[in-house]
Amino acid sequence: MQINQNSEILLGTNFGTQVADYEKGRVTSGDELLNYVSQKIKELNPSSLLEQIPVVDLGCGTGKSTEALYNKGLQNIWGLDPDLKMLATARGKASKTNLVSQINYFEGAVSDIQSIFQNQKFKVVTAFTAFHWFCTIEEVNAIKTIMATNSIFIVATKSDRTSYSPAQMKFFKMLGEIRGSPLPNPFKNFYPAKVLQKCGFEVDVQYFPKETMYNIETLKARARSFGGWCNLTEEQKSIAELKLDEMVQMLFKEEGDKDGLYHETSEEMRVMGYLKS
Ligand SMILES: C[S@@+](CC[C@H](N)C(=O)[O-])C[C@H]1O[C@@H](n2cnc3c(N)ncnc32)[C@H](O)[C@@H]1O
Repeated sequence: MQINQNSEILLGTNFGTQVADYEKGRVTSGDELLNYVSQKIKELNPSSLLEQIPVVDLGCGTGKSTEALYNKGLQNIWGLDPDLKMLATARGKASKTNLVSQINYFEGAVSDIQSIFQNQKFKVVTAFTAFHWFCTIEEVNAIKTIMATNSIFIVATKSDRTSYSPAQMKFFKMLGEIRGSPLPNPFKNFYPAKVLQKCGFEVDVQYFPKETMYNIETLKARARSFGGWCNLTEEQKSIAELKLDEMVQMLFKEEGDKDGLYHETSEEMRVMGYLKS
């Protein structure tokens, strides 16, 4: 497997160093988006049972998005990720719960997709908070080789209509200062709809509100699960930990509710690419 040595890309290949934080702090797409996705898949495949439609979830990580799709009835499902630690957690959960025992997890990057899945064809391809790591013409063309006729590629990602909150900007700035250079923003030059269109997909974009509540520990875990943190050295992480504590205490003091929770309202973007032939 080839991993691009570009430092910006490496940010997306190291989440496993903070896998426990990832599990604790990350929340997958909101229910409204997931319900919409499963409804749309049903409409596009009227003569198939939802549980039999072949689906592959790219950049599946610890399986949060893969399991969420499974729980919406998509039970013929594969997950792909290059990060072995993330996959080990996904597989561990799958082997513990009968509910997810049918999810098949594969190690690999999107650039290797053709050799991994060979002649297998999928009716549905998904990428939940992952497409910004492989949104290139070459990689989308590789994805097309495993897509069946009349299939769809569904991308759920950070909305392009909203920016990071002042608290998140302050946090990213702090990580940049600790590593000694500003943190690359993986969402800069990320144009999922345009790239899909260039590759021959018919594209449709929708926005969904998302509200997530955090306590101090889950908010800190989420902060530690960002790519920028995962790529710090252990020494840098200890410095960042002290700063993170200060920032989070301040945020909860100013914006926490009476039950000690912080409410984050955000927006998610769903980009749907139809492949007719
Ligand atoms: C933010 S996580 C999202 C995980 C999961 N989809 C979720 O919703 O929790 C992004 C994932 O993309 C994976 N990734 C990064 N580059 C990739 C590539 N080139 N091909 C496939 N997956 C990749 C990372 O290893 C990571 O697990």
